Amino acid sequence: MLKKKVALLMGSDSDFPSLKGCIKILKDFGVDFELHIISAHRTPRKAAEFSENAIKNGFSVIIAAAGKAAHLAGVIAAHTILPVIGIPIKSSTLDGLDALLSTVQMPKGVPVATVAIDGGENAALLAIQILAISDSDLAKKLTVYKETMANEINKKDLELQREVEQIWKMKGNNSMKKMEQIYEGKAKKVFKTDDLQLFIVDYKDDATAFNGEKKGTIEGKGIINNKVTNHLMKMLELKGIPTHFVKELSERETLVKKVKIIPIEVIVRNIAAGSLSKRLGIPEGTKMKSTVLEFCYKDDALGDPMINDYHIFAMDLATKQELELIADYSFKINKYLSEYLKDLQIELIDFKLEYGKTDDGEIILADEISPDTCRFWDSVTKEKLDKDRFRRDLGNVEGAYQEIMKRLLGK
Ligand code: C5P
Repeated sequence: MLKKKVALLMGSDSDFPSLKGCIKILKDFGVDFELHIISAHRTPRKAAEFSENAIKNGFSVIIAAAGKAAHLAGVIAAHTILPVIGIPIKSSTLDGLDALLSTVQMPKGVPVATVAIDGGENAALLAIQILAISDSDLAKKLTVYKETMANEINKKDLELQREVEQIWKMKGNNSMKKMEQIYEGKAKKVFKTDDLQLFIVDYKDDATAFNGEKKGTIEGKGIINNKVTNHLMKMLELKGIPTHFVKELSERETLVKKVKIIPIEVIVRNIAAGSLSKRLGIPEGTKMKSTVLEFCYKDDALGDPMINDYHIFAMDLATKQELELIADYSFKINKYLSEYLKDLQIELIDFKLEYGKTDDGEIILADEISPDTCRFWDSVTKEKLDKDRFRRDLGNVEGAYQEIMKRLLGK
């Protein structure tokens, strides 16, 4: 396909350093462009000629950068019907305000789309957006660019949340009163608080497998699972998944919203492993054609038997609408977690989720997301970095949990 050309004009070679960002973006998007020095005042005839012949020469958009009494964009716009984008360049005397006003204050009938002072990047993006109207490849690249930018902001927001939390901790503002224990599970205890809508979860180092048949301790597991779960829940919240997470109170304790746990364990599988491999004879590590969603009835005495949606409705565990929401959240969580972990060289093989219902009837993600409840494999070595090391006596159990925390939290 013939690439559409952008003309990037500058009033003086001294403007060039301010245009590096603009050039980089045009290059990154693979947009063909020409760069010229043309001055509205010093080479007025050349400016008029260039503009008059721009369409004939295959240009679709013109970007004109100039400083001081910046007339270049206006003069170019006067001689063509192509869209003209003006970049006011900052100069030593008036900080670019002179160029901004000269570029932006065009008389009626001759528009110049003026970007910020030294806003070369935006000029390039605007030019690309204009070209993308009739170029689907460019449009796709713009979508990816916007998504990447959003992800970076989300990452920064997460870091900010962590810092704010640290400040809270330093202030000792953890005044929530821990009251009587209401539940003790295999890996966690849950306590009431003096706020009727909040519970405190306390993570233990105890480890069990095969429905309690194998018992042991993984030193430091409670701390790691607490931190890893909170880190991932915060990330999911930012992506729009409602969770029970409120605030990390200490190394092992987290304040969560009070919910009534829905007794369905939701298992999401991307790669065959564990009980699925055993049940269906699919070798462990086989990438399946699509993601598998399984439901188990959460009942230790029965060994958490697998159930389907008919059982769920018949046993009144959830309504059709609620189950659809749970499935939708679970697939989204799988997408967000898989993408996030991939960057940390972790493959998300499978995992288990639990949901709860608030007093208002809202369904939110509860329980934990940790090496206890997920299968994490190193993407390159395929080394297991999860509870399978404990279940299968593979050794270095603590090391695997620490490795996950290090990759996720950097410590
Ligand atoms: O054992 P199975 O292959 O069915 O486990 C699938 C996934 O769900 C694994 O990541 C496992 O850690 C998790 N799981 C869990 N708690 C259960 C059952 C499974 O965390 N009760």
